[in-house]
Order: sequence, then structure tokens, then C-alpha cells
Amino acid sequence: MHGKIQMNDPSIEHKAPPGYVIRPATLDEVEDLTRLWFMSFNSSHDFWKITTPEDKVTTQWFNDVWAMGIRAGPEIIATWVVEDLNQGGKAVGFSRWHVPQLDRSQEIPFPPFLKEWDPELVDAFWGGMACSIHWMSEFGGVDPACQRSGILTALLIWGCDEADAAGLENYLDATPQGRRIYLKFGFEDREPLPMLERPDSYGTFKLTAQVRLPKPFLACDANKW
Ligand SMILES: CC(C)(COP(=O)(O)OP(=O)(O)OC[C@H]1O[C@@H](n2cnc3c(N)ncnc32)[C@H](O)[C@@H]1OP(=O)(O)O)[C@@H](O)C(=O)NCCC(=O)NCCS
Repeated sequence: MHGKIQMNDPSIEHKAPPGYVIRPATLDEVEDLTRLWFMSFNSSHDFWKITTPEDKVTTQWFNDVWAMGIRAGPEIIATWVVEDLNQGGKAVGFSRWHVPQLDRSQEIPFPPFLKEWDPELVDAFWGGMACSIHWMSEFGGVDPACQRSGILTALLIWGCDEADAAGLENYLDATPQGRRIYLKFGFEDREPLPMLERPDSYGTFKLTAQVRLPKPFLACDANKW
């Protein structure tokens, strides 16, 4: 019963950078989201080429992840797409958030992990989530051609505003590329995740657990950020 109470504030909107629109993802663009995953993550570090290889089964797995999240609805998982108006509305960025549930349930619909994946990396990257009521930025990526335009910043500010409006903490696991942006918005390093070293493939890769404490939220304060 408690879990039915809505913990997100639908009146909070993204402030997209000029030339971009941010809107909820739809079921017919799950393949676009998967394409964007590989474009953004797999091009950023060889760690991702091993952890989420761009092969048939992993592509299908990601298509399923997005579809399950979109079907679950924005009160459980918020999936956003960024359109580039200068490219006819092409999808160039995305973010996905776990919306807090009052009963602390994870209730995150997820397909089973693939037997083809390296089990140690699966455990290190996908394992272990805190069981408190909090917002969580699960994924975020931007087409390399559109990076450094403020897209992640806009996606992030929305999630910070939502958490502030609810008075809740915001969790994420930061990549080196994302971490410095998150630090600017009040996320604090907690602990490095136990990443494995693979000298023969990707070398080393560091993900850092971060938490952002809620700040006072004034919906009318346009200068907050
Ligand atoms: C991390 C990632 C999502 C950042 O996306 P992005 O849209 O380029 O991020 P932003 O544009 O908001 O910010 C990036 C930088 O550009 C700067 N910037 C923002 N708007 C800008 C603008 N209009 N002009 C120039 N620079 C700008 C930001 O200040 C930031 O600077 P910094 O790197 O010195 O901190 C992207 O690099 C990516 O997809 N990486 C691979 C996947 C990944 O690591 N995802 C994060 C998961 S935790």
C-alpha cells in the first residue's frame, strides 16, 4: 500500500540546453537507447567493451532493460531521452533513474544477467544496492558528438531537484567522466567500488559510489543552480 504513494514530483521539468529537448523515452526507441549505451559507454573506456560487449545477446539484454523500465512506468523508473533539434530530433543522450519507493522495495524490473558475461565484473558493477528510500541515478550517457554541451548537467539537475523536493538522498556509481560533474552538484565520494584489474584487457577502471544529501528545494528559485 505504502509503495503506491507517488514519490516523484511530475511538475519538475528539465531545463535542456539550447537546441535540445528532453522527454520521456518511449517503447519504440529501446534500440536507440542501446545504441546510445554503446556509443557513450563503450567508446569511453575499454572496461565497458568487456563488461557490456557490443554483441547480439548484450544488445538484446539492453533492449529488454529499457523496455522493462518504460513498462514499469515513471513512478518506478524514469527513463529520459535527449533529442538534438539540429539533427531532426535524433536521440543523443539518455538517463535512467530509480524513483524511491516508500516501502523501500527495490522493485526494479531487470532481466537476468547473461551467462556470457564475466561473473566477477557482473558482481562488481551490477551487484549490491542500498535498501533505503533514496533517488538513484542508474545510467546516463551522451553521444560523444554532443558531449560538453551541458546535456548530462541538465539530466542531473532534474534528478537533484526531484530528490531535494522529496528531501531524499541521491545515489549513483560514478565513472571517472561523470564523477567530476557530479562533485560540482553536491555529490560526495563514499567508496570506490571493488573493481578488478585486468592488465591484459582494459587495465584498471575506477567507479566511485557517491551520495548527495538533500538541499532545500524552492521550485520558484530559477537561480538555484
Ligand atoms: C559523462 C557524460 C555523460 C557527460 O556528458 P556531457 O553531456 O558531455 O556532460 P556536460 O556537457 O553536462 O558536462 C561535461 C563538461 O562540459 C562542460 N560544459 C557544459 N556545458 C558546456 C557548454 N555549453 N560548453 C562547453 N562546456 C560545457 C561541463 O562544465 C563539464 O565540464 P568538466 O568536464 O570540466 O566538468 C559523457 O561523457 C558520457 O556519456 N560518458 C560515457 C558514459 C559515462 O561515463 N556516463 C556517466 C555514468 S556515471
